[in-house]
Amino acid sequence: MMQTITNIAEMRGWSAAARRRGERIGFVPTMGYLHAGHLSLVRLARQHADKIVASIFVNPLQFGANEDLSKYPRDFERDSRLLAGEGVDALFFPNGDEMYPRGFQTAVTVESVTRGLCGASRPVHFRGVATVVTKLFNIVAPHVAVFGKKDYQQLVTIRRMVADLAMNIEIIGGDIVREADGLAMSSRNAYLSAAERSAAICLSRGLAAAEETARAGGEVAAIRAAAIGPIEREPLARIDYVEVVDPETMEVAADGGETVLLALAVFIGKTRLIDNRVIETTQRDSPSVTSRLRDSASVS
Ligand code: PAJ
Repeated sequence: MMQTITNIAEMRGWSAAARRRGERIGFVPTMGYLHAGHLSLVRLARQHADKIVASIFVNPLQFGANEDLSKYPRDFERDSRLLAGEGVDALFFPNGDEMYPRGFQTAVTVESVTRGLCGASRPVHFRGVATVVTKLFNIVAPHVAVFGKKDYQQLVTIRRMVADLAMNIEIIGGDIVREADGLAMSSRNAYLSAAERSAAICLSRGLAAAEETARAGGEVAAIRAAAIGPIEREPLARIDYVEVVDPETMEVAADGGETVLLALAVFIGKTRLIDNRVIETTQRDSPSVTSRLRDSASVS
């Protein structure tokens, strides 16, 4: 039976009891409105822990003044059912007054990895994320926590924070879960109209085009241009950023690096979507099957 816990003291007590029993606690923080991407993280956590805690908290600190905090989608009943169905042991569902009581004034700032990409477009975002995740870690006291690669810069930020502040928590990254047509699952996909939903495949198309270009030997500028192509051809899309960066430092990648992260943020109508792909630039394919067929055809 999944236990739903809404206050900090009770959550601490639950975790302390699990630790006394020698159980390893796995933690999956979320903002709710769950989809298969979130649930894949719960399953991944289960592979590394005995007891699973998930949290649902729409964290006001990580939303800018003109962002979608008030209309962020919520469905607690459905989320709770889905988590119970995945065998989650405890659902932590705190309220804002207890997380941020009057007089709250402390923040965790991770410096350089949060400067570019989403950090440039959303100046307060990663400080809000690092602060709430620190607080959740202090309350839940997990041995291991799982974050999705969908928010790659967030994953890197949390890893950096945990290393820098000697938090005794293992951080695991889960692969991006996608819809059948390639669109990365996101709670924000719920904002899209039917026409916007069709337009939104330009993000994953851009990533695929970039990967092709890298395989064909393209360097950083060509990889970036390839990703931009399908997005610019989509009338409902407006690019926030498309960047090729070092997957650890988040700094703009130089030619000759082996692995790069192609990260992008695109407005589809009013909805801002993000996606990314890790691309190997040195592992070039042998000529593709089609070009081999073409070549042999032209020889004979
Ligand atoms: P949220 O957007 O709800 O995402 C919760 C976790 O699910 C994050 O680790 C995110 O990377 C992961 N996730 C989202 N979509 C995914 C997908 N398609 N495939 C795999 N994983 C996916 O990220 C947050 O909430 C918040 O910033 C939070 C960490 C909870 C702090 O408030």
